Amino acid sequence: MILREATPSDGDFLADMLVAAVNWSSEWKRKSRRRVLAAPDTGHYVADWPRGGDLGVVADVDGEAVGAAWLRFFSAEDPGYGFVAADVPELTIGVAAAWRGRGVGRALLRALEGRAREAGVRRISLSVERKNFAQRLYLAEGYEMVGAGSAQSDTMVKVL
Ligand SMILES: CC(C)(COP(=O)(O)OP(=O)(O)OC[C@H]1O[C@@H](n2cnc3c(N)ncnc32)[C@H](O)[C@@H]1OP(=O)(O)O)[C@@H](O)C(=O)NCCC(=O)NCCS
Repeated sequence: MILREATPSDGDFLADMLVAAVNWSSEWKRKSRRRVLAAPDTGHYVADWPRGGDLGVVADVDGEAVGAAWLRFFSAEDPGYGFVAADVPELTIGVAAAWRGRGVGRALLRALEGRAREAGVRRISLSVERKNFAQRLYLAEGYEMVGAGSAQSDTMVKVL
């Protein structure tokens, strides 16, 4: 597996991973790619990738992308689900279904944090549904709960 910086041509793959993240639970009706990208509250995580300040990493296996994690800054006027402040970018992460549970997600998180530090980012935020096992990964990687985003989700922050 190779971890590399996400480039402008990775926009479609990041969109795939955003769709995977939105549809993390098999208990809910799947939202189509079109719907995820068209709805402002989900589509804005990848719209116009890359925008100024965006930072991402992609995991490649044999030249094929299998996972991605990226950061995007939001404003108080157009906040992400995990918004805490305009100078704190929000994390999105997704791994292709066939590659989950093999350490790709943890490796992506760590690689992204390294790049974020180099870019001068001091904190990263995210929103996660409490039932999603991803929350355990975030806790293990040093993210702390800073509040409830909704009845089902928590906002978490990692200080780099
Ligand atoms: C969440 C996600 C990015 C994690 O990536 P991954 O490559 O599957 O995770 P890893 O293999 O690096 O596992 C890291 C930790 O997650 C947990 N984990 C992984 N797979 C798990 C599973 N099937 N059940 C329970 N916990 C699991 C474990 O705590 C694991 O730690 P360990 O290695 O010490 O056991 C990935 O599973 C995914 O894309 N899921 C769907 C989209 C999603 O939920 N995105 C996040 C939205 S907030």
